[in-house]
Amino acid sequence: MHNEIEKVLISEEEIQAKCKELGAELSKEYEDRFPLAIGVLKGALPFMTDLLKRMETHLEMDFMDVSSYHGGMESSGEVKIVKDLDTKVEGRDILIIEDIIDSGRTLAYLVDLFKYRKAKSIKIVTLLDKPTGRTADIKADTVGFEVPDEFVVGYGLDYEEKYRNLPYVGVLKPEVYGG
Ligand code: PRP
Ligand code: MN
Ligand code: MG
Repeated sequence: MHNEIEKVLISEEEIQAKCKELGAELSKEYEDRFPLAIGVLKGALPFMTDLLKRMETHLEMDFMDVSSYHGGMESSGEVKIVKDLDTKVEGRDILIIEDIIDSGRTLAYLVDLFKYRKAKSIKIVTLLDKPTGRTADIKADTVGFEVPDEFVVGYGLDYEEKYRNLPYVGVLKPEVYGG
């Protein structure tokens, strides 16, 4: 699998150091609170696991799976719920955990949903941010790394459901796409 990677953009060591740093920041932010940490399946899973290990406050974990409707090559922008939360959002401090923000549509949808459900506060933490992809008006409160306008895989991010289990973030060789 590693020989299908053209280059490593963010190494395992850099990711782990970042999780430690952000975990410490978030521990301060949520000190004496009991946030509801929501991982967006499936991509957020590795980051969520490593980040939350570094938080020293009590927290509750839940998961949400959403998918964008795709008409042809472009996402239509519509999002539907595949798996909803088990937990009530009303009155809770919500921490949404994502692997990447690209167009921003997934998060725009989730933020609206949690506002509608009367969250007390909503914060977004994302490992990666690709600002060049943005179409929705959304910004993360905490960003691990900015990435350039390239298709990245690894550490949760997939190409045709593969590469999520890489411990680093990298770029695929063009021939893997059939190029
Ligand atoms: C990817 C990624 C983010 C979202 C970002 O998830 O994990 O959740 O797309 O894109 P956006 O900012 O343009 O909405 P995807 O829908 O591919 O599902 P997955 O996490 O299961 O791979
Ligand atoms: Mn995702
Ligand atoms: Mg995906």
